[in-house]
Amino acid sequence: MSSSLRDDDGVSNPSQNQPLSDVVERSLAANPARRRMMLGGLGAAALPFFAGLSGCSDDESPAAPPPPAPAPAPLPTEALLGFTAIATSSDDDVKVPPGYVATAFIPWGEPIAEGGPAFKADASNTAAEQELQIGDNHDGMAFFGFNTAGNGFGNRSDEGLLVLNHEYINPEYFYAPGSDPSNWLLPFSYEKARKAQAAHGASIVHVRRAENGSISHVKNSPYNRRIHGNTPMALQGAAAGHALMQTAADPSGTEVLGMLNNCGNGRTPWGTYLTCEENFNGYFGWNGDRTPTALESRYGIVQNGFGYLWHTVDPRFDVNAHPNEPNRFGYIVEIDPFSPSSKPVKRTALGRFKHENAELVVAANGKVVVYMGCDERNEYIYKFVSNGTFDAANPTSNANRRLLEEGTLYVAKLEAGATSGDGMGTGQWIALRLGENGLTPDNGFHSQADILIRTRQAADRVGATMMDRPEWVAANPKKPGEVFITLTNNNRRGGTTSNNVDGSTAGGSARPPADEANPRANNVWGHILRWNEANGDATALSFNWDIFVLAGQPAVTGARAPSSNINADNLFNSPDGLAFDSFGRLWIQTDGSYANSGDFANMGNNQMLVADPVSKEIRRFMVGPSGCEVTGITWTPDRYTMFVNIQHPGEVGNHPRAPKTATGASYSDNDVARDPTKFSSWPTPNTRPRSATVVIRRSDGGRIGT
Ligand code: FEO
Ligand code: CA
Ligand code: CA
Repeated sequence: MSSSLRDDDGVSNPSQNQPLSDVVERSLAANPARRRMMLGGLGAAALPFFAGLSGCSDDESPAAPPPPAPAPAPLPTEALLGFTAIATSSDDDVKVPPGYVATAFIPWGEPIAEGGPAFKADASNTAAEQELQIGDNHDGMAFFGFNTAGNGFGNRSDEGLLVLNHEYINPEYFYAPGSDPSNWLLPFSYEKARKAQAAHGASIVHVRRAENGSISHVKNSPYNRRIHGNTPMALQGAAAGHALMQTAADPSGTEVLGMLNNCGNGRTPWGTYLTCEENFNGYFGWNGDRTPTALESRYGIVQNGFGYLWHTVDPRFDVNAHPNEPNRFGYIVEIDPFSPSSKPVKRTALGRFKHENAELVVAANGKVVVYMGCDERNEYIYKFVSNGTFDAANPTSNANRRLLEEGTLYVAKLEAGATSGDGMGTGQWIALRLGENGLTPDNGFHSQADILIRTRQAADRVGATMMDRPEWVAANPKKPGEVFITLTNNNRRGGTTSNNVDGSTAGGSARPPADEANPRANNVWGHILRWNEANGDATALSFNWDIFVLAGQPAVTGARAPSSNINADNLFNSPDGLAFDSFGRLWIQTDGSYANSGDFANMGNNQMLVADPVSKEIRRFMVGPSGCEVTGITWTPDRYTMFVNIQHPGEVGNHPRAPKTATGASYSDNDVARDPTKFSSWPTPNTRPRSATVVIRRSDGGRIGT
């Protein structure tokens, strides 16, 4: 995210928001069941989901412009890790530290606006209904405050637009079972594919904070909007219009329907949202015979995709019918949430790969720098540097809004540095620019468009460093040029093969040896690496890096040992979501094994921790419900309210409480589809589990994390 937007220490919470705790805590004392409800627990089965104090009640007042923001007051001194660490858990609820309140909000299927179709608990909503409902698998997210006038982007904390991604669907929970007893998905249909497409993309949700600190969805607001897998969007940049982008439906190669697998996110200081297409390949497949091209294989396009079956009913996703359609996915998409009729734009200058997030900073020289990871085993870290410079005096100017149109894309090469084995080294940013570093016609690169569409292959050619699944990138708002990245895990580290320089490697298939920056073979726990750009300049072409934490088990010694900042109280695996708050706390979210045994013993459900970037101390702040991933995080500018997403609660996997059939077998997806409340019913009692946002605040009205 933009560090400039987070650098909000001059702004305070409106003073009338302070006494929220009085009302809430008195009510909680009178009815402890409500506390369990607010914590997402199962103990509140008799309470409706959007009950009373949950803070999620519908707001029926007219969508008048928000009232003027109160005058700011100075912020008190904060502690960096000023909360009590919590234990792991395998329970089906959300755990937060003492003194914090967590409330589920806008789960999958809720109407996006007033009068929209209600969620049907048997998952029988239609595709047309889903287009008017909150999507599935909440992921990256950003809060945009209104300006003082209440008609555009600003820095208010009491009212704003919450924009969140919907990465994918879980078919076992997403569809009411069909007529085939052995496979709930069958018969599959065009209607089912369209329903899934409608649950992808993003939601823009107008939210308002009451004086008691609760958050409500302003349902009659014109800003509420769903963007999904069939929303028209523009293709912009050097790749737009290229022959590889042209299809029968769009001979110009400049307009695509929809965005898919929107994972992490970013935001710009001009008030737009960046959303990142990750595993787009999984929706494509082919009917009949086909020998995939090198480009298709490099991006993981295979005959049956990930099993979503879209290509069997919707020709757009059949690569035999429309071979260029996949080339129109895998981009950073820019959306203006304050302009409900605006057309999203795919910014091809930022490259095509499995984008995780997009961390934007404004360098000292005014250039806009966007850091990005490509999430697959043995893929690369990238940064984009704009051609133009940011006009800080006019943040929402038209010129600023065009800064992602043109620039240079770089990929990272990490070296061991002066000393081997010390967990630190040096690095370079290599330009992916036509005619340089082997990106020439002789090597198959005929234009900059070629490089932007075939970004992974261009990075192969220049010798980028294969990493242990690059996930989120986060830039330290308190130290210019310092950047962190989660490397979530890699069970294909420790072999002898590398991505071929000619781009012919199938995505994720190489097995490189351990190296200084990815030091563990079979890295099942993951690590976090950081770099400091030369002279603190985000546009620099060289950097120093070091390993911030190696996750794992303290009892393990030798080559698989964790780093010394891992102890019995902060065990975790597979760091994924990563973001700094404006005070400089580093928030770490996990998407890994919740088996709670073996390599993952005593790690419990997926979780969120906070790190001190200087001392490296790490403390657990939150644990999610059963089978979920914790991902996506944002704050109101005053940091009195934090939003976190719970994705795919109820994923059975290898959870210690995974349900069994009468014969003792593990539940298949077909079993889950027919018994969808057996394992989890978070966040709505007696209802199939649903991805949702969690609103977190302090019961004493204080600032989060302090
Ligand atoms: Fe969608 Fe790499 O997580
Ligand atoms: Ca070294
Ligand atoms: Ca992720």
